Amino acid sequence: MTRIGTPLSPTATRVMLLGCGELGKEVIIALQRLGVEVIGVDRYENAPGQQVAHRFHVIDMTDAKALRAVIEKEQPHVIVPEIEAIATDELARIEADGLATVVPVARATQLTMNREGIRRLAAEALGLATSKYAFAESLTELQTSIDNGIGYPCIVKPVMSSSGKGQSTINGPDDVQTAWDYAKTGGRVDQGRIIVEEMIKFDYEITLLTVRARNATGDIETQFCDPVGHIQVKGDYVESWQPQPMSDVAIKKARHIAEAVTSNLGGLGLFGVELFIKGDEVWFSEVSPRPHDTGMVTMITQMQNEFELHARAILGLPVNTALRTPGASAVIYGGMDAQGIAFDHIDKALAVPQTDIRLFGKPESFTRRRMGVALAYGDEIEDCRQRAKQAAACVETIPPAAS
Ligand SMILES: Nc1ncnc2c1ncn2[C@@H]1O[C@H](COP(=O)(O)OP(=O)(O)OP(=O)(O)O)[C@@H](O)[C@H]1O
Ligand SMILES: [Mg+2]
Repeated sequence: MTRIGTPLSPTATRVMLLGCGELGKEVIIALQRLGVEVIGVDRYENAPGQQVAHRFHVIDMTDAKALRAVIEKEQPHVIVPEIEAIATDELARIEADGLATVVPVARATQLTMNREGIRRLAAEALGLATSKYAFAESLTELQTSIDNGIGYPCIVKPVMSSSGKGQSTINGPDDVQTAWDYAKTGGRVDQGRIIVEEMIKFDYEITLLTVRARNATGDIETQFCDPVGHIQVKGDYVESWQPQPMSDVAIKKARHIAEAVTSNLGGLGLFGVELFIKGDEVWFSEVSPRPHDTGMVTMITQMQNEFELHARAILGLPVNTALRTPGASAVIYGGMDAQGIAFDHIDKALAVPQTDIRLFGKPESFTRRRMGVALAYGDEIEDCRQRAKQAAACVETIPPAAS
């Protein structure tokens, strides 16, 4: 599809976002700039992306009937899932029925919404290096898996979860029960199945943003952004930077893994391939078939940021993954549970040299909810990280009663 019509007219190119958080919002902005008609769907009203879409719908996206109904009503040409918690089997039927193109393909959304699907694909079907792992459905099974080879320390995660929810580390036998209980309450749907993984003592971890896009001759080509380094706290990203320096061997291995996984998943679009690196060794961890939170740094570092790359790729347009400048990002948290909070001292944040800021416009704040991000660019990564954190720290959140 290399022709784009006029929004809100019969020729319109219609794209539906399933999920309208901060990542979806930026994809929508990129699509809007290309004159695409955008429909934003989320589980609550006035989600960030809905605020910049042509129109929006509020549904439970795990409800197959509701999902199909909204798709039949809007008849999008392209459906772009922004989150994992979607009725992906229904997306597969919609794709099979030829109702719309699912990005990158429905199978990729099915495989990645459950840790078991993507882990078995990477380790067992593709033979890629991963941490040792096992699946368990009871405390006894978990203990047996640890004793039979996973060992201590290890990490337990519900098979259906994201952003570190229900995830914890087991350092020894005393932690097993706690980790099991925590995983059972933290998963997306309480189906009581967990993955237990050997803890990899990596030197650093990266997201390798990988794009499958059409080139000038119309063939699908895989292109890589410079590696994004990041720091996670309790399974949630707090800081990222680009480029992460890597050895020649490690970057080659990382690209090989990313190419293998993304070409198996197929379709068009940007993927965030999460990898652990120790010296020249590289392990596959997981992959998002969509822009990645740690990739928000590309809003300041790249010629085309990860959202623009995704938008262009899914429309069948060529992309440019070139780095413009080194840079860093630091998360701004809500710091409180309240609706309609305010953000103070933005002027101070932006007075930090070579920085920028994004406030997502989320209607409701939670203490550890990501409400914005500070960005910094410069010549040295360490200096960029320091200024991004400094800018983020300037921002003070204010409860509605005080603002
Ligand atoms: N086997 C492991 N060894 C070492 N560290 C790990 C392992 N698994 C997870 N981690 C750490 O926990 C972080 C989050 O894990 P993972 O990406 O699997 O969870 P997630 O809930 O999908 O998080 P997100 O949605 O933010 O990507 C990783 O980025 C890494 O820092
Ligand atoms: Mg992850």
